[in-house]
Amino acid sequence: MGRWWILIGLVTYVNAQPSCKIYGTSKTIVSCKPGDSDYVLVRGLISDNNTTTKIILRGCRITNVEYESFENLPALKHLDLSQNSIRFLQLGTLDEALAVMHLNLSFNMLSQFPLGLFDQKTKLTTLDLTGNKIVSFELGIFDPLRRLKSLYLSSNSLVGKDLNPYLFDQNPNLSILDFSRNDMSQSPDNLLHALYNLETLNLDRTLLNVVPKFATSSNLKSLKHLILSTNQIKRIDDPTVFINLDSLKVLDLSKNNLDFIHENTFKTLRNLVGIILRSNQITTLPETLFQNVPKLINIELSDNQLETITVASFKGTSLKNLNLSDNKIKFLPKNFCLELQNIDVTLAKLYFLPNPWECACMNELVNEIKNMNILYDGDDFDGEHQVCVVRDKFICDRTL
Ligand SMILES: *[C@@H]1O[C@H](CO)[C@@H](O)[C@H](O)[C@H]1NC(C)=O
Ligand SMILES: *[C@@H]1O[C@H](CO)[C@@H](O)[C@H](O)[C@H]1NC(C)=O
Ligand SMILES: *[C@@H]1O[C@H](CO)[C@@H](O)[C@H](O)[C@H]1NC(C)=O
Ligand SMILES: *[C@@H]1O[C@H](CO)[C@@H](O)[C@H](O)[C@H]1NC(C)=O
Ligand SMILES: *[C@@H]1O[C@H](CO)[C@@H](O)[C@H](O)[C@H]1NC(C)=O
Repeated sequence: MGRWWILIGLVTYVNAQPSCKIYGTSKTIVSCKPGDSDYVLVRGLISDNNTTTKIILRGCRITNVEYESFENLPALKHLDLSQNSIRFLQLGTLDEALAVMHLNLSFNMLSQFPLGLFDQKTKLTTLDLTGNKIVSFELGIFDPLRRLKSLYLSSNSLVGKDLNPYLFDQNPNLSILDFSRNDMSQSPDNLLHALYNLETLNLDRTLLNVVPKFATSSNLKSLKHLILSTNQIKRIDDPTVFINLDSLKVLDLSKNNLDFIHENTFKTLRNLVGIILRSNQITTLPETLFQNVPKLINIELSDNQLETITVASFKGTSLKNLNLSDNKIKFLPKNFCLELQNIDVTLAKLYFLPNPWECACMNELVNEIKNMNILYDGDDFDGEHQVCVVRDKFICDRTL
């Protein structure tokens, strides 16, 4: 008898189901809150509604998904199953709700997928698998997703060298691909060879020592944003490394160990608007590095080891925003902003604090900036921060 009670107690415990409410002006959005225990999703909670367009089951303590949980949801476009504890999705569990375009499975405990899981998800354009425990993908898993545009794989346990380069062969329209926080070192050079419409590639924190070949291959002419931040890239010796990236607008190389960049590295980037070199080990920049990169507007050089920078460095650019915070700058060239204007570069924002400024030199610059209405990092001029070092003279001494 006692035993039966325990069993019944357990069953009710496990079935404490999420509570769902209907939202939206057209009453087609269903959003659920967790019950007070773990839950196995079954048919009946959110299934069987012809009008539901969006289901939010975020953080609902779901541990597993039964067959037919998504039965009869012909209008469903968004399905959010993020922040649950799903370890595995059995083949067939995603076979209903054929109109789903956005599937969010982020922050679960998924480690692998049975081949065919996504076979009925042909309308999918967004798939978010961030924050799971995925080690690898079976070849063919993404093949049914011909319309896939955004694939988020950040924060898994992927090992690039084990990824099959034919994995994305059937995803011609993939335009956002996020591999951040995985080990993408030693990935095959042709990993992305099938992608001709990729626009954003995120390789933040992926254990890279060099700019990887797969991220710069000749088919990536549409790439606009390349994020290579938080890696261990020390040098860029090959000036042709980015030569294929005709459309590149933003290149993020922040938080690497860069101390050498070949002077011609950026020369071919005719559409580059922003370059982020924050938090590296750069002591000097070749004067020609940014020269004649015609659309370059934003240059972020903060947290490096620069002592000064020349006016000519920015010749032939469209520089507007320059960040030199947190370097070793004691002075800039005389009439820096005016001289820039003389080469057709009109600064809008200049950030130059903190640096070990010599006060006389900084005052010259501040006067110039104020006269020319350039925005600057004025917060530190509040009398509380020491922003410059007084030397025993009133004239800026520009000898290093
Ligand atoms: C299901 O759809 C009907 C309209 O057919 C609507 O009145 C009802 O609120 C919906 N229920 C849920 C849970 O979506
Ligand atoms: C949904 O639509 C189908 C086909 O139009 C219909 O047979 C079914 O009764 C509808 N179900 C609900 C719950 O409205
Ligand atoms: C997926 O859900 C998480 C929250 O659980 C959210 O931060 C993320 O933006 C969602 N992904 C997409 C592509 O909307
Ligand atoms: C890919 O995108 C193009 C342009 O948006 C579109 O015409 C084409 O149908 C898409 N291909 C697939 C398979 O969805
Ligand atoms: C300039 O760089 C500093 C240091 O990295 C940062 O705190 C600040 O937000 C940056 N300013 C702009 C406008 O990006």
